[in-house]
Amino acid sequence: MPHGQVELKRSSDIVAARQACREMARALGFGSADQTRLATAVSELARNAIQYAGEGVCVVTDDSDDETAIIRVVVEDHGPGIADLDKALEQGFTTSGGLGAGLPGARRLVHGFAISSEPGHTIVQLKTVRKKW
Ligand SMILES: Nc1ncnc2c1ncn2[C@@H]1O[C@H](COP(=O)(O)OP(=O)(O)O)[C@@H](O)[C@H]1O
Ligand SMILES: [Mg+2]
Repeated sequence: MPHGQVELKRSSDIVAARQACREMARALGFGSADQTRLATAVSELARNAIQYAGEGVCVVTDDSDDETAIIRVVVEDHGPGIADLDKALEQGFTTSGGLGAGLPGARRLVHGFAISSEPGHTIVQLKTVRKKW
């Protein structure tokens, strides 16, 4: 289960997280459209961790089995948390004058999306899958 970890502290770290996911997807045989979808979703989550929590971490794991290529990505932070998750997942909801497209967009771009948040801990898990045959 090879994996990579990127500390998220500044905007250049968003690029590093994006690259790590794209590289894992490429290595596991995902096409360039899928690579871009995953990389874009992870960028949004990494940006949120830095913007709202100051810092966070992104862990990319190869969870593949014999039949399916599976990439799992966890983006986690220890910031204030999201007060209303349902609202935060609505297109256009923002507390920062942003576009409010990050979370709903990320959710649409991958096959599995789970988020949980409380004061002091927000964790978002993404999964993207591809049948090997
Ligand atoms: N990691 C996080 N910690 C705290 N709040 C967050 C986090 N991620 C998202 N949010 C909250 O959810 C809202 C929606 O996020 P998002 O869809 O990325 O839109 P935007 O960042 O443009 O506001 C944010 O405005 C913020 O209030
Ligand atoms: Mg955002």
